[in-house]
Amino acid sequence: METKLIKISPENPEPQLVEEAARILKDGGLVAFPTETVYGLGGNGLDSEACKNIYIAKGRPSDNPLILHISQISELRPIVREIPLAAQMLMDAFWPGPLTMIFPKSHIVPLTTTGGLDTVAVRFPSHPVAMAIIRASGLPIAGPSANSSGKPSPTRASHVEFDLSGKIDMIVDGGAAEWGLESTIVDVTGEVPVILRPGAITKEMMEAVVGEVFIDPAILTKPSQDLRPKAPGMKYTHYSPKAKVTLVRGSREAVISKVNQMCHTDGVEGKRTGVLATEETKGRYQADVVLSLGKRDKLEEIGANLFKHLRKFDFLGIDTVYSEVFPEEGEGLAIMNRLNKAAGYRQFDAE
Ligand code: TXA
Ligand code: MG
Repeated sequence: METKLIKISPENPEPQLVEEAARILKDGGLVAFPTETVYGLGGNGLDSEACKNIYIAKGRPSDNPLILHISQISELRPIVREIPLAAQMLMDAFWPGPLTMIFPKSHIVPLTTTGGLDTVAVRFPSHPVAMAIIRASGLPIAGPSANSSGKPSPTRASHVEFDLSGKIDMIVDGGAAEWGLESTIVDVTGEVPVILRPGAITKEMMEAVVGEVFIDPAILTKPSQDLRPKAPGMKYTHYSPKAKVTLVRGSREAVISKVNQMCHTDGVEGKRTGVLATEETKGRYQADVVLSLGKRDKLEEIGANLFKHLRKFDFLGIDTVYSEVFPEEGEGLAIMNRLNKAAGYRQFDAE
């Protein structure tokens, strides 16, 4: 299949291009488009066939459910059985934006979309290009991250092209994704909302709106028999580059000296080494490639660069990557969750 690549301006989405993308979706085809978190791979979320094709294009296991994307609040009602009070409060506060909520699904949502579950994940993205395309299609749009299953999520149209060119109908380039990490997922079907995947909307931000919010304990530890994540997709070690990633904990000086030592040893063994550093430390590592995620106190910058850098290490043929760690709170929780997954939970204490 030939994949058509078009550019749509986020400042002023061109109506005829938006219509062209929407037409493909209405006809059952697949279109990758930018959102404020990462690029999504869109298809008609009410059409089993389109959703099956999404799983195939991504090489994704069919028990890993898709998120339905809407472009106005009124599109929520037909796809869910009920809207709990907590959900109403959270959507008033954070929609449109990087928050996905899990609802009991209505009968019009096919089980193919939800990976066989009786619940459905819904998100109202704030990216103007995503909003325009979804609205023009008049459909809830199933939209997983537009990467091949197992790769880091795409934050640029070029990442999507690399993974999915030839497998989908269209890629819409709308520039770099602002957040660079996937949306926060919160399950609102129980008594207390539970975060299933941390993201830009933090526990603290939600607690200010609805009171207590829990975090699925499987988020920061390696999933095991007794501790299974409630979001099916969180059980897979994805977001992982080809390189072997190790997180290194400890004081700044201890981390720098340990990482340099390990890079030296790897180099002697003929491996190409990489370091995920910060602006404060980037000049101090001796590795083949050192990439700075940003300033330590600018967590949103670090989140926005993470997947791009992981992909770059692959592109450069790096064998081992050592990464600094960040506080596991606020936005740092999402960063550490993705880093832990990239590392397969491998970490080293430098002290
Ligand atoms: O930011 C995002 O959420 C991006 C953009 C494109 O919107 N989308 C995204 O979708 O990250 P995806 O499919 O890559 O990740 C969706 C996650 C998976 O881990 C999946 O298991 C979980 O959401 N999920 C979907 N439906 C669910 C449900 N009904 N119950 C629990 N988890 C669900
Ligand atoms: Mg994904």
